[in-house]
Amino acid sequence: MRITMRPLIAGNWKMHGVGSRLNQIEDIAASVGASRPEADVLLCVPATLIFRAARAAAGQIAIGGEDCAMEAEGAFTGDVSADMLKDAGASAVIVGHSERREHHGETDAVVAAKARSALRSGLLAIVCIGESEAQRRDGKTMVVCGEQLAGSLPEIPDGGELAVAYEPLWAIGSGHIPTAADVIAVHAHARSCLVLRFGDEGRAMRILYGGSVKAENAQSILDLADVGGVLIGGASLSAADFDAVLRAVPR
Ligand code: PGA
Repeated sequence: MRITMRPLIAGNWKMHGVGSRLNQIEDIAASVGASRPEADVLLCVPATLIFRAARAAAGQIAIGGEDCAMEAEGAFTGDVSADMLKDAGASAVIVGHSERREHHGETDAVVAAKARSALRSGLLAIVCIGESEAQRRDGKTMVVCGEQLAGSLPEIPDGGELAVAYEPLWAIGSGHIPTAADVIAVHAHARSCLVLRFGDEGRAMRILYGGSVKAENAQSILDLADVGGVLIGGASLSAADFDAVLRAVPR
């Protein structure tokens, strides 16, 4: 398993983007090549774009998928396996994003199986967790995130790398972000869960924050204790916005 604490700046295009958007990836790759930020840069894109996105990235940034199947192969019409993502040029995949959990009924067990499949294929698996607004209001944030971590993390085999993304549901696409103290508290809790589960390897795993990350708040979020990177939705769709976030990476 690769151990690194370089921050990971990851974009999540969701269900946006056809071939005509590849110029955004070329622009991001060119600017990363020129500015060489002290961070790993990853863009997770729809499966149909991965092959072309990897070409457009020209080795300057990594390309990932947004979901993968639990199974390695078989009679699962329409599903895309982790091996297929890898074969198309991906080196990472997001699993258990709240939009998958909500709209596709993905349980913690399903997310863990997907993460296991991703690691087996040698991909970085980014496992998402996060509480709803009601759960936060009821003071259940730590319990919910702890339970999601316990249920959604696979055992770690050799080869892949595991990261966690804390994405409070109410912060996604809303323009609202938790206070610094709240981010620190959840990340510290997640870290203790990871260390309890994986020992020293758990200490080295990156915990990303996601939810309304933009150029204006990226630096202050990245400066917080135990924030190992960010997962960015809306602000990753255009090269100009994503570049602005990259410029905020502490050097
Ligand atoms: P957002 O999305 O940056 O648009 O809030 C983040 C995510 O859903 O990963």
